[in-house]
Amino acid sequence: MRISVIGCGYLGAVHAACMAKLGHDVVGIDVDERKIRDLSAARAPFYEPGLEELLTDVQATGRLSFTTDMSAAAGNTVHFICVGTPQKKGENAADMTYVDAATSGILPYLAPGDVVVGKSTVPVGTAARLARLVQDHEPGAHLVWNPEFLREGHAVSDTLSPDRFVYGVPDGSEDHPAVTILDEVYAAPLSAGTLRLVTDHPTAELVKAAANSFLATKISFINAMAEVCEATGADVTRLADAIGMDDRIGRKFLNAGIGFGGGCLPKDIRAFMARAGELGADQALTFLREVDAINMRRRTRVVELTRELCGGSLLGHRVTVLGAAFKPESDDVRDSPALSIAAQLQLQGAVVTVTDPKALDNAAKRFPELQYEPDLDKAIAGADTLLLLTEWQQYKELDPFEVSNGVAGLRILDGRNVLEAAKWRAAGWHYRGLGRP
Ligand code: UGA
Repeated sequence: MRISVIGCGYLGAVHAACMAKLGHDVVGIDVDERKIRDLSAARAPFYEPGLEELLTDVQATGRLSFTTDMSAAAGNTVHFICVGTPQKKGENAADMTYVDAATSGILPYLAPGDVVVGKSTVPVGTAARLARLVQDHEPGAHLVWNPEFLREGHAVSDTLSPDRFVYGVPDGSEDHPAVTILDEVYAAPLSAGTLRLVTDHPTAELVKAAANSFLATKISFINAMAEVCEATGADVTRLADAIGMDDRIGRKFLNAGIGFGGGCLPKDIRAFMARAGELGADQALTFLREVDAINMRRRTRVVELTRELCGGSLLGHRVTVLGAAFKPESDDVRDSPALSIAAQLQLQGAVVTVTDPKALDNAAKRFPELQYEPDLDKAIAGADTLLLLTEWQQYKELDPFEVSNGVAGLRILDGRNVLEAAKWRAAGWHYRGLGRP
């Protein structure tokens, strides 16, 4: 199958490489020349485990190329739209500029039988609107909505063997000609047992909004429980273990801590609320406002707890923040709770140093006023208080006795509840978790 992938960010670069891995001829197209230069040289423009190896591997086959020239899509059958839908400045709604530009850009190159496949997370109703554009231009072409469920940090395996495929086609019918074409694109994972569901356009768009809203709700639920645990002296990690044993509930996404961030969950729940408002269904999603509020409250809570740990004042107190990325195995700092907490602590007078194995360059672009130290030992040296805010493996494995030698004070706040409290306390540390006694 000849495939174009428009947009080579976190989603598109991985998608292009994985489609080539599945045996297709793929061209990745992006307006960003630097990104295209990097990808053409098999360098990933961001950190994603396994991506550079995959790029090197598939480029050697000659099946994958990258360009800034949209005309490279001519002659391809399937055109994936993988561009971003960030939050609009000053509004909750999604900014559709890039999706609209990518779709208009592809129109001149469409031929009868081609399939335009939307993967970006979009407000419900977008697919129907774009389908009309495609049909007006090339009545023989189709538009399918095929939402993406990959997680950063696991993007390659999530793309090559996802939980499920959702195809949103105009009539919602299995017999739609685009279904056969997408089945051919995904033949390998389908034959390995990945489930697939054919729906109409709005259902497919809503599946993605609903899935991310559910995940965000699960995290905020357990963080709300953490607040109650803090008020009663209970332990939210044991509570999560116990309720998670009920397989109707499940233990995944019940890790209480500093809350969710990243380029997806926060902006997706806001865009979903905004869209529901436009559709006159805002009441249905007012609970997401609470989900958002609980999540944002975690950040303030950590600042307050740090102040308590520091004996009541942050002024002049040296705080080292372990982790800047919104989650481990990623260098993405979009809406990172760790960085937002670091910035608030600094504003309130603490002397903050941030360390992270991968995300410091991105962090420095976003918060140039913070101090960064890539070397973990140097970052920790002389700290009065440590804050573990992104659970990278190397931070989870820290030895409390060894760390004691470098610091000025034995205080640690475990923002992800990943350290063994008893071990740290036994080594003389004043340990605080979130929602734990
Ligand atoms: C999320 C979804 O999980 C993907 O399925 C979806 O495809 C993607 O958004 C997207 O819309 O593109 P991602 O943003 O990569 O993926 O990250 P998650 O693994 O969902 O984590 C999101 C945030 O929640 C992180 O900050 C993480 O630290 C936090 N989290 C996660 C918790 O605080 N507690 C948990 O129990 C789990």
